[in-house]
Amino acid sequence: MSGLIPQDFIDDLVQRADIVEVVGSRVPLTKAGREYKARCPFHSEKTPSFWVSPQKGFYHCFGCGAHGTALSFLMEYERLEFPVAVEELARSIGLEVPRTDSGERVSVEPLYNVLDKAVTLYRQALRENPTAVEYLKKRGLDGETAREFGIGYAPLAWDTLLTACGASEEDRQQLLGAGLVIPRDTGGFYDRFRDRIMFPIRDSRGRTIAFGGRIIATGEPKYLNSPETPVFHKGRELYGLYEARRAERKLERLLVVEGYMDVVMLAAHGIRNAVATLGTATTSEHLRRIFSVVPEVVFCFDGDRAGREAAWRALQVSLPSLHDGRQIRFLLLPDGEDPDSLVRREGAAAFGARLTESIPLSEFLLDSLSADVDLRSLDGKARLAALAKPLLSQLPDGVYRELLTTELARRLGLPRERLDGLLGNPATGSSGAGPAAPAPTARPDRPARPTRQATGHNTTRGSLSRQAIALLLHYPVVAHEVALPDNLEGSGQRGVELLRELHALALSRPDVTPPLLLERFRDRPELPHLAQLLAEEPLVGPEGAAAEFRGCLGRLLSAATQQELATLLQKAGQEALSGPERERLATLQRTVVAGTATTGTGRGS
Ligand code: UTP
Ligand code: MN
Repeated sequence: MSGLIPQDFIDDLVQRADIVEVVGSRVPLTKAGREYKARCPFHSEKTPSFWVSPQKGFYHCFGCGAHGTALSFLMEYERLEFPVAVEELARSIGLEVPRTDSGERVSVEPLYNVLDKAVTLYRQALRENPTAVEYLKKRGLDGETAREFGIGYAPLAWDTLLTACGASEEDRQQLLGAGLVIPRDTGGFYDRFRDRIMFPIRDSRGRTIAFGGRIIATGEPKYLNSPETPVFHKGRELYGLYEARRAERKLERLLVVEGYMDVVMLAAHGIRNAVATLGTATTSEHLRRIFSVVPEVVFCFDGDRAGREAAWRALQVSLPSLHDGRQIRFLLLPDGEDPDSLVRREGAAAFGARLTESIPLSEFLLDSLSADVDLRSLDGKARLAALAKPLLSQLPDGVYRELLTTELARRLGLPRERLDGLLGNPATGSSGAGPAAPAPTARPDRPARPTRQATGHNTTRGSLSRQAIALLLHYPVVAHEVALPDNLEGSGQRGVELLRELHALALSRPDVTPPLLLERFRDRPELPHLAQLLAEEPLVGPEGAAAEFRGCLGRLLSAATQQELATLLQKAGQEALSGPERERLATLQRTVVAGTATTGTGRGS
């Protein structure tokens, strides 16, 4: 059904689409807790039963059962065919559906191939160019790190790639499509990168999608990046993320720095969790990526004015993503230093100490605002409250917002209620969303869970595999943390196959979201069942998802073991078991004994 549009592109599109924007620009939405509601555009009703969830990237009507992703909404609401809806959605977020000159859609596969070829050529050229090697040595880079990041050298010539990558028109088009060559006014092409140290920019799967090139001699620009291409979107990529994830199995936080060399040199000193934006300010897309991988981020900027301003901009885009359980810190470096220069001068331990002393977002926010006001005067206090108000209002409801408001009240020397008054918060204070409110509970204004939810798939309702599938659908990123055990099939539970398929799909990208999974099931009979599960409230919030999923799998596995054991025991009662069967029986009996010892721990009940 997706025809010739590359699946990667569709994945990308549904990942990036903002469901609230897509629906909200066509149907008036009212905010209700963490979701939005409206009168359903697909059936006539007086009271709203149509819900849009930004977390799930999904809409659902409890009245008529309509549901789907941003893409399905466009198809249904505007009555568009799939490819047309893809075009429309792509246009609305500034993406172009990949096509060739003749207007056909192209596969992006050849672009990856030609980029890969360029990596090999540039690496080869580095080995053959003493000046380039000398330059990197002088900067303190060791061979192993250079190899790991695939660093190379683009020779001082107009046709390195053009000569090496084949002379057919198709070859040229691929080089052009990958952003590696530039057309001449007089016809023909020339290499984009010349006499530069080349840093391959890799996507989450490790495929090279673009390059950054640093000039060796002095010259302009110091760094040259690939242009936007069908496989490279600058505002969302983070240099070094692939390498960081590969170096550390369990990343706990990421460090966002400004430059390629910062990432590489920190890595060379054993600090493996640094990533860089590509010469752009931090975007909300970057943050989404970051928080899909780790709960904590430290922004590291120069201490000069430009650095402070960049830090402040990063703070502003970060506010809406500060959901409970996440943390953002800032590290402002001494004037004139960057992580590269510092780690070379001070070593990794001292740099690590600086990281430990980085300041939390709340402190950075209030300190920065307070710097401009005189807190001793009443006027100054009112001004600080006024400055903080628009920032606080961008924080999601939750612990963070509470804490910041309380801290602000403390700094102002005001009782909390007075400040709430000043900020225009509801008089009841922390009504509904205070720190004590557990995330996923039923909303008071949501209709009682309708009976239609229970229809259709009762067979698996409440079953272990159903629970696991529901968790995975709501929080697909847990797949990156929790592997599926091998022997689940024996559990006799329906749905294990589906669970495996979803799990494998979820692994396709680090930042995978629910709509990606749903769209992959667009033409499959399981789709309504999956949509139904996603429409329900998840059992736990995002923080608890991995643990819950792990627990669920543990119970499934134990069910599988018990089942196999029972079958073997029954068989043993009727006939003599074969050698392998006896061995298997013994193994299972050991597992079950060991298993009962461990299932008791954790959250059994
Ligand atoms: P900096 O100018 O701070 O350079 O740019 P740097 O990273 O310290 O580089 P070295 O140490 O001199 O080699 C920071 C980042 O801004 C982008 C690049 O991504 C760079 O890593 N940048 C900078 C450009 O895209 N173009 C430029 O001309 C300069
Ligand atoms: Mn530098």
